[in-house]
Amino acid sequence: GSPPALIPPHPKVPPPTTVIEASKRLAAWTAVDRHVLPEYKVIGIGSGSTVPYVVERIVSQGLARNKDRVFIPTSFQSKELIVSAQLLLGDVDQYPVIDVTIDGADEVDETLNCIKGGGACHLREKVLAEAADTFIVVADYRKNSDVLGKNFKQGVPIEVAQFAYAKVLQNVHLVGSPGATLRMAKSKAGPVVTDNGNFVIDAPFPEEMMRDPYTLLTRIKMLTGVVEVGLFCHMAKAAYFGNQDGSVTVK
Ligand code: 5RP
Repeated sequence: GSPPALIPPHPKVPPPTTVIEASKRLAAWTAVDRHVLPEYKVIGIGSGSTVPYVVERIVSQGLARNKDRVFIPTSFQSKELIVSAQLLLGDVDQYPVIDVTIDGADEVDETLNCIKGGGACHLREKVLAEAADTFIVVADYRKNSDVLGKNFKQGVPIEVAQFAYAKVLQNVHLVGSPGATLRMAKSKAGPVVTDNGNFVIDAPFPEEMMRDPYTLLTRIKMLTGVVEVGLFCHMAKAAYFGNQDGSVTVK
């Protein structure tokens, strides 16, 4: 494909708090300005630490004022964001066709394949990415990569039914990730439980397997007990990365 384009600094982004926060905001604001068109009525809102800047820009652009415009969350966190910004909240079962979904990512490769699920939200995120006519990724410069797994070392997030986790873990080891582990809560009190009541396995794979993420995705998804895999292949239409110098890279 064509080389990534570099967009000059956004004229209106406020001064940064930290470089990383500023770069997240740059990516989010640029994507909202380009992809949330005035005629759009159904908008998917992703999860993570970049997405609050998406909502911030939606509000500052006055895109929340149209009372016909509904916002669909991908997680408890994004539902809270939508509600606290006083946007109209909807659900994907009411609105299975979405105009645009904007979401963060843990890593994005040269052909816009992504690792997602660092926040354990990738099942709903993938449903909303698939439901959207246009799926757009926003992230800071650390997520911009050539091969998945180079920057995001903790592995591919795999959401699994609770009762099946030990068997899935064994099978994920056999697929090629002997280092795969069950994700534990930061408190170490027990496993992370997703918004859907499932567990998450983090599975690092060797680079040669990560170079073909679609094949890897299909192999993991075949394992009984797997609910969804945090590899998003051929889904994103564009990815925006805020850079340290205030520019934005778009792929
Ligand atoms: C949650 C995700 C997030 O989109 C991903 O972790 C990126 O988050 P951040 O914007 O905080 O870097 O996939 O499951």
